Amino acid sequence: MSFDLVLFGGTGDLAWRKLMPALFQAFRHGTLPAGGRIIGVARDDLSDAQYRDLIRSRFDDVELAKRPTPEEFDRFAGLLHFLRLDLSQPADYGRLAHMLRERHAETVVMYLATAPDLFTRVCQQLAASGLNRPNTRLVLEKPLGHDLASNREINEAVRRAFSERQIFRIDHYLGKPAVQNLFAMRFGNALFEPVWRREHISNIQITIAEDLGVEKRGAFYDKTGALRDMVQNHALQLLCALAMEPPINAHADAIRDEKLKVLRSLQRWTPMMLDQHVVRGQYAGGNVGGREVPGYREEPGVNPDSRTETFVALRAEISSWRWAGVPFYIRTGKRLAAREAHIVVNFREAPHAIYETPPGSWNRLVINLQPRDGLQLHMLAQGQESRRNGPVLAPVHLDLDFDKRFGSERVGAYERLLLDVIAGRLNLFVRSDEQEAAWRWVEPIMEHWAGDARGPRPYAAGTWGPSASSAMIARDGFCWSEEC
Ligand code: BG6
Repeated sequence: MSFDLVLFGGTGDLAWRKLMPALFQAFRHGTLPAGGRIIGVARDDLSDAQYRDLIRSRFDDVELAKRPTPEEFDRFAGLLHFLRLDLSQPADYGRLAHMLRERHAETVVMYLATAPDLFTRVCQQLAASGLNRPNTRLVLEKPLGHDLASNREINEAVRRAFSERQIFRIDHYLGKPAVQNLFAMRFGNALFEPVWRREHISNIQITIAEDLGVEKRGAFYDKTGALRDMVQNHALQLLCALAMEPPINAHADAIRDEKLKVLRSLQRWTPMMLDQHVVRGQYAGGNVGGREVPGYREEPGVNPDSRTETFVALRAEISSWRWAGVPFYIRTGKRLAAREAHIVVNFREAPHAIYETPPGSWNRLVINLQPRDGLQLHMLAQGQESRRNGPVLAPVHLDLDFDKRFGSERVGAYERLLLDVIAGRLNLFVRSDEQEAAWRWVEPIMEHWAGDARGPRPYAAGTWGPSASSAMIARDGFCWSEEC
C-alpha cells in the first residue's frame, strides 16, 4: 500500500526524538508498507539531502540497538523528503498539494507534530487546498487544548475539515505494549473477569513516576502542570482500560464506547473531595540517583514564583455496579524516586482465617508498564518455616516478564501507533467525546486550585512526593505499594 506521511513540525523535537526512530524501526523490521514517502514539513530552508543529513545526525542520540548502520540509514533515507512550508501561507499548502498529486498515494497521513494552537489554522488551510480528501488521515498530538472549552474549540474546527473516522488523536500510553497486554489479560482470558469487581478488589493504584525533571520544556510545562500533562490523558486512559466493561468486539468504537462510560461514571467532585482527595506538589531541590538537582522554580523557563504542580495524587471513584466504593488512586510526578509506571490491583482479605497470617490482604496483581513490562501475582504459600511452627504462610509471587518472554525487540508505542494510522486502525486512538469527558472531570480540580491560596506542597526531588499523598491513602486504611 503506498502512503505519503506528511510530518508538520518535521524538524522539531518530537519528530527526531520519537517519530523518526519509530519509523526507522518499522522500516528495519519490514512492517512499514513499501512504497512510502515521509515528507518533513517546516519553515526551514532545506533540500532533501540536507534534511536527510539532519535526521542522520539526530540518530546519534538514539540508543545503540535502535540506531541504523550507515547502509540501513542510506536505504531509509530514500523515503525522506522535505518541503519548506510556512503554516500561515496558503500558497505553501498549494505546493504541498502539488507534491502529493505527483504520486496519488493510496493513503495520505497528515501528522501535526506542531504546537496545538496551530491545529485549527492548519486544518482550515488543508481543507481550503483540497488536502482533506477521504483517503487522508489526520494525526493530532496532545495536548489538545488546556481546558474543556479550548479542547472543544479545536475538535470542532478539526471536524469542519475532517470526519471523526479520519482523526487519530494520539495518547502514546495506549501504544505501550504493557497497556495492550492489560487489554489482552482482561479480555483474552476468562481467569480475571469473575474477580474483577468490587466484591473482590479493595483498591487500585496507578503510579506514573518519572525521575527526570522538566528538562528543556520548562516554559511549556509551567503553563501545563502534571494534571493536564499526565492525569487528563495518560492516567485516565489507564483507568479506563482497568475499569471498562468488556467491549462487544475489538472494533474501535466498541472499545471507545466502553472507555467513555467509565469517564462519564467518575464521581463528581464535591468541595470536601477536592480538599481531601487531591494532593498537588512541586519539587524542591534534592538528590536523584546520587546527583544534586535544582528545584522546579530554579529550572530554566520556569517562573521563580510558579504555583504549577509537578506532582498529583488523587482518589477517584466510579459510580457503577461493578466499582461502587472501590477507590482508584492515581499518582504521577516529576523528579520522583524512580522512573517507574505500574498498576497495583489489591484484592480483599480472605473472608475466614484458618492460618496465622498478619492482617491485611496478601493478594495483589502488579502490572508493570515501565521500565520493564510484566505481571506479578502476589500470594501466600507455605514456606520452610512450617516444619518447625506448623502452617506458617510466606508471601511469594509469580513473575511474568514480557520483555524476557517475547524479547525486548517488541514494537514500541510510537511505532505501533504510526503503523496503525497508516493501516487506518483507530482502536488505540482517543475519540473527541472521551477527551471532553476527561476534561470535564479534571476541570473542577483546576478551578479549585486556582482559588486556593495554599499552592502546591513542596517535596524533595528523589522522593515519592509530599507526605500528604501517603496521608490521603492512609485515611482509607491503605498504603502505596512501596510503603507496605
Ligand atoms: C508526555 C508528557 O505525554 O509523556 C511528558 O508530556 C512525559 O511530560 C511523558 O515525560 C512520559 O512518557 P513516557 O512514555 O516516557 O512514560
